[in-house]
Amino acid sequence: MPPKDIINKAAEGLESLTNTLSISASPTNTFHSPGSYFPSSMGRSSQQPPRPSRQLKPFNTEDIKILMLENVNQTALDIFGKQGYQVEFLKSSLPEDQLIQKIKDVHVIGIRSKTKLTANVLSHAKNLLVIGCFCIGTNQVDLEYAAKHGIAVFNSPFSNSRSVAELVIGEIISLARQLGDRSLELHQGRWNKVSSKCWEIRGKTLGIVGYGHIGSQLSVLAEAMGMAVRYYDVVPIMALGTARQVPSLEELLEQSDFVTLHVPELPETRGMIGEKQLNKMKNGSYLINASRGSVVNIPDLINAMKSGRVAGAALDVYPNEPAGNGDFFTNDLNVWAEDLRGLRNIILTPHIGGSTEEAQSAIGVEVGEAIVRYVNEGVTIGAVNMPECTLRSINLEQTNHIRVIFIHHNKPGVLRQVNSILADHNVEKQISDSRGDVAYMMADISDVLEDERKEINDGLESLGACILTRVLF
Ligand SMILES: NC(=O)c1ccc[n+]([C@@H]2O[C@H](COP(=O)([O-])OP(=O)(O)OC[C@H]3O[C@@H](n4cnc5c(N)ncnc54)[C@H](O)[C@@H]3O)[C@@H](O)[C@H]2O)c1
Repeated sequence: MPPKDIINKAAEGLESLTNTLSISASPTNTFHSPGSYFPSSMGRSSQQPPRPSRQLKPFNTEDIKILMLENVNQTALDIFGKQGYQVEFLKSSLPEDQLIQKIKDVHVIGIRSKTKLTANVLSHAKNLLVIGCFCIGTNQVDLEYAAKHGIAVFNSPFSNSRSVAELVIGEIISLARQLGDRSLELHQGRWNKVSSKCWEIRGKTLGIVGYGHIGSQLSVLAEAMGMAVRYYDVVPIMALGTARQVPSLEELLEQSDFVTLHVPELPETRGMIGEKQLNKMKNGSYLINASRGSVVNIPDLINAMKSGRVAGAALDVYPNEPAGNGDFFTNDLNVWAEDLRGLRNIILTPHIGGSTEEAQSAIGVEVGEAIVRYVNEGVTIGAVNMPECTLRSINLEQTNHIRVIFIHHNKPGVLRQVNSILADHNVEKQISDSRGDVAYMMADISDVLEDERKEINDGLESLGACILTRVLF
């Protein structure tokens, strides 16, 4: 149990964290296209204080019902509680038959990685608007089926960046001082006080491959400890502090005392570090991989460590990882596992880079807030299976304004039909975008009378291309 004050401090910090998390995106995004990413309300001039936004209600649904599975963090429950949503909370996932029963009438479902939302399960969800994956990955959900049925999916890909960066800092020092080996020896009763080939990290060069969320955080932390930072990325990214981007991976490998990998899993990053690249590394340098298991060729790393070219390594991710905890890290899982375990000065961790209490809280906040924005205002920023659309909120003075959300098949001529239904009204603002076969339209309309809301809703629902219509007022 952590000391109580640490927990309270984390909770106090959540409010400020919320603001940061709402706009989390790749630093690459931020540097290259800030205007296109941020909701328009964020670009408001400082002369105009923001007007309080009006909480919108769905025109034709009862209270929002949420099913939260897999012990999702309390921070999300607090956010839903404040909205007055009805939340059913379960600590575990559910077997498919029970899931099908429960999912039938909920508007929102929150899951982590164990709940499989297949097309079969989702076909029973008659009211479902949105799925919150309170984790990084979304491959437990049939994203395409969800999109084609008007169900948005949100996740939290970047809430644990700091946790990974901190782990890597710990590993850099541990490798330089051979801490893993010394600790293991003493656990076995052996006193082995050595200084040969043990180093300070001050003044050494850290080479970061992939200068995204994690790579850039790490850059700042490493500089604070006196390291020189070089990075290689496929896109030009503004350096933080005195870090310097280098033009090729080869150059980075040749210059660095420590190389750390922070790239996504892509065809181009598969096997990115193998024999050829390891031979480019400085003699006696160190390799850290907390990105994805496919990025490093492990048999080549084993050879490089046996030859002494690589003096130490830290691995958090592997090509095959077990589904649960237990004695599974054997040759049955990965043929080289036992060779790897037999090496000296190698830190092996079970994919824990992002596993901290803070990251779990942040995931709860990020996904919880995305769901509230989607349910209350139809904003899809951060959705993984829908086009990302937003409009400024309707404010308290705009009493008879409504917001129309129309999710539809992406076919020619649909917007003409939509606009003919809206033609007699004053459409104050409208946005439309598509992603594959699915398109998303939001429109704010002023001075709409009560019976006109139903007319607009029914008109849009009658269109052949309609997937889902929501009228919020
Ligand atoms: N160990 C863990 O628990 C853990 C936790 C979170 C994330 N991760 C993994 O860490 C990795 C990085 O995450 P992130 O959030 O920083 O991602 P990110 O998307 O913010 O950054 C990735 C960066 O890599 C760059 N890149 C892409 N292809 C490249 C290439 N071929 N060569 C060089 N650079 C390339 C991108 O331009 C981008 O700047 C991902 O693989 C992610 O899955 C692991």
